[in-house]
Amino acid sequence: MEKVAFATRMHDLGGDVVRNMFLLTENPDIISFAGGMPSPDALPAEQLRKIADELMQDAGQQILQYSTIEGYTPLREWLASAVAEQGMKATTEQVLITSGAQQGIDLAAKCFINPGDCVLVERPTYLAALTIFKTYEVEFGCVDSDDYGIIPESFEEAIVRHNAKMLYVVPTFQNPTGVTLPAERRKAIAEIAGKHGVIVVEDDPYAKLRYDGEPVPSIASYDENDVVIFLGSFSKFISPGLRVGYAISPPEIHEKLAQGKQTTDFHTSNLSQRMIYEFCTRGYLEPHLKSIRKDYAIRRDAALEALEKHFPEGTRWTHPQGGLFIWVVLPEHIDTTELLPKAAAKNVAYIPGVPFYADGGGKNAMRLNFSNASLEQLDVGIKCLGEVISEAMKA
Ligand SMILES: Cc1ncc(COP(=O)(O)O)c(C=O)c1O
Repeated sequence: MEKVAFATRMHDLGGDVVRNMFLLTENPDIISFAGGMPSPDALPAEQLRKIADELMQDAGQQILQYSTIEGYTPLREWLASAVAEQGMKATTEQVLITSGAQQGIDLAAKCFINPGDCVLVERPTYLAALTIFKTYEVEFGCVDSDDYGIIPESFEEAIVRHNAKMLYVVPTFQNPTGVTLPAERRKAIAEIAGKHGVIVVEDDPYAKLRYDGEPVPSIASYDENDVVIFLGSFSKFISPGLRVGYAISPPEIHEKLAQGKQTTDFHTSNLSQRMIYEFCTRGYLEPHLKSIRKDYAIRRDAALEALEKHFPEGTRWTHPQGGLFIWVVLPEHIDTTELLPKAAAKNVAYIPGVPFYADGGGKNAMRLNFSNASLEQLDVGIKCLGEVISEAMKA
């Protein structure tokens, strides 16, 4: 029998890391620092159950019907004014509800990228975005970062060197490093992108999870040239399972994104959109955010304390002001991919650094998620990892 031939775009996607990570999280014996999931306690199941009940009672037939591509208008209106918090002036017409920020990245790529086009990314960057871009057969270019995120001069240099079409950037509590880009760099990035006609995909699902420091305006708030697509999501602070995110973009780009969405899924689930809208407008959001910020800050502090206590000299890590991740760098000769089975044998999991790099690198790094483990698990798991690392460093 002839073998079926998959499209070339499906070769070497490297999506196995994410799939295996979800599998690992299903094993109750494993202390997993691998995922990017909210804590189960942070999911407001009871409030959302009541909301869903009422919605189905009051508007069941509307909800069960097809609806508009752009999304539920009251939610779009609410978002257009809510993003003022991040310095943005958006109209309702600019808001497209997406099935998570993940779909926003996919739609941006679908609308702008031809095979062979260059997308600039951070080193490291969100690994599932790399997978999306690979399906569009991009060439990657990399922009250098320091402790404050990407360096504007390196961005401009990379645009010229690669004749780049797009920058994909996670500016706030970055996945995987937890680092936040300061306001002056955001402004510089918007200006440089505008000058060169480069699209910026600003992926910002973590901004609401700030535990210390002051909020920073979005890159989109500095965009005077209509080049920034801002992506947000309700996944990290209400529910990832409802799959509701949003893209806010200049009118011309919005039109194309909406056409792109039409060919993907027509529209995001009506029930999910309305549940999110009711949750945000019934006064549940602020107390909920207050409570999860407090909880996650405690977990972050516990993780940082455990790292200080249990990780050997020669290792270093980021100190994020928010979000869900800490990025750990080990001495250069330690390979975190090789170390993972040893950690898993002791029932601890993390994600090795390599899949977060478009151009190699990250061999000696790992991403730790602190939102989904209990305080005790954070201490026990990090202690265990510290032992595995110490052994490897001695070998
Ligand atoms: C940077 C970043 N973008 C997008 C996503 C996907 O989020 P959503 O659930 O909104 O699709 C994630 C999830 O981990 C993420 O970390």
